[in-house]
Amino acid sequence: MVTSRIAGFYNLPLGERLDRLAEAAELSPEELASFRTLNGLGDEQADHMVENAVGTFGLPLGIGLNFVVNGREVLIPMAIEEPSVVAGASFMAKLVRSGGGFTAITSAPEMIGQMQVLEGKDLMAASLRLLEHKAELLAEADGVDPLLKKFGGGARDLEVRIIEESPIGPFIVVHLIYDVRDAMGANAVNTACEKLAPQIERITGGRVHLRILSNLADQRLAKVSCSVLLKELAFTNADGRTFTGEQVRDGIIEAWAFAAADPYRATTHNKGIMNGVDAVVIATGNDWRAIEAGAHAYAARDGRYTSLSTWGRDGDGNLTGELEMPMAIGIVGGATKVHPAAKAALKLMGVKTASELAGIIASVGLAQNLAALRALATEGIQRGHMTLHARQVAIAAGATGDLIEKVAAQMVIEKVVRIDRAEEIIKSLKDM
Ligand code: MEV
Repeated sequence: MVTSRIAGFYNLPLGERLDRLAEAAELSPEELASFRTLNGLGDEQADHMVENAVGTFGLPLGIGLNFVVNGREVLIPMAIEEPSVVAGASFMAKLVRSGGGFTAITSAPEMIGQMQVLEGKDLMAASLRLLEHKAELLAEADGVDPLLKKFGGGARDLEVRIIEESPIGPFIVVHLIYDVRDAMGANAVNTACEKLAPQIERITGGRVHLRILSNLADQRLAKVSCSVLLKELAFTNADGRTFTGEQVRDGIIEAWAFAAADPYRATTHNKGIMNGVDAVVIATGNDWRAIEAGAHAYAARDGRYTSLSTWGRDGDGNLTGELEMPMAIGIVGGATKVHPAAKAALKLMGVKTASELAGIIASVGLAQNLAALRALATEGIQRGHMTLHARQVAIAAGATGDLIEKVAAQMVIEKVVRIDRAEEIIKSLKDM
């Protein structure tokens, strides 16, 4: 049985960590090997994926531990260069699991395709005519992807909007709502929009200009919640400073209130959420720019940019958190099916549907948000970041092998984590 609790994982050498993954999830040696850069995405695949390929670009792949999502233990692959993210998410998932883990729900996987209708005459009358022809337009759009149809997807609805004010004056926008099941959906939706365009032109007498998916996937949402027991929040830091559960809980709620009220803070708060979200989106070969665009637009949906998450307390005084955001990801098609490491990542998580993956990704986002708020609301972000950051600075300054830890440790003691200091320490250690 898969467990996401692997004690002492971080202390193991990299090869042994892979062995532990093999034990925890049934990954073949080839699948495990695909997590190593040289065996993952090769030059040949890269050459087929983009124009003018000259190679591949690596990122560290870490495993988020301790996650329980909808009662299921999940090992989370996270591709990210920022040192503290995997550790932070894993630690918070550990706190959350004693409160029952993460509970995720998702809406139907419905994407929006947009068609911009220009040069129409009577926009209101044209809009009504479009609605009268809704059934036939939906039937037409429904036929574009037989495979999606077979799995229960297809065209669901047609909405007509009039944009009254724009730099080129008023025009009609048609939204095609399309259930894309386990796909990200861009291809199906774009094809359907292009297919409908001539019919829409005939009905409206206008000219269909753009035909493209909207990344504001506000009908394809993932919502996750968690509760952290008060006793899990209390801690004493390395300086012997003690924080009670109440202090940490209230500090987190105050920190969230800042993001809820102020766009400058909300941007950074949401960036912390995206640290977790993007890491899994990238590891699974999904389009993280689409997720980023959708997340930030959704955060501004009421006209003012705000926090994507909410933190509060329940009747027993425990900390409660919630995150709702668009989640246009897929598990079929695109890089998810071409990239060997992305395929292995999906298998590691044991996800069977895009909706399940969406719930897991949102859980990691909420965990990461909690990690940042807990640190910010107590001892500050730098202490926890410092050791991890120091290693990266040591490497950047040219340290290799054992020297990395030695240089990093020295900088942490001195509380000076800078490349020039790292270079000096490397020189002094080498001269010794
Ligand atoms: C850093 O990558 C993310 C944080 O700034 C998020 C936050 O401030 O909530 C720590």
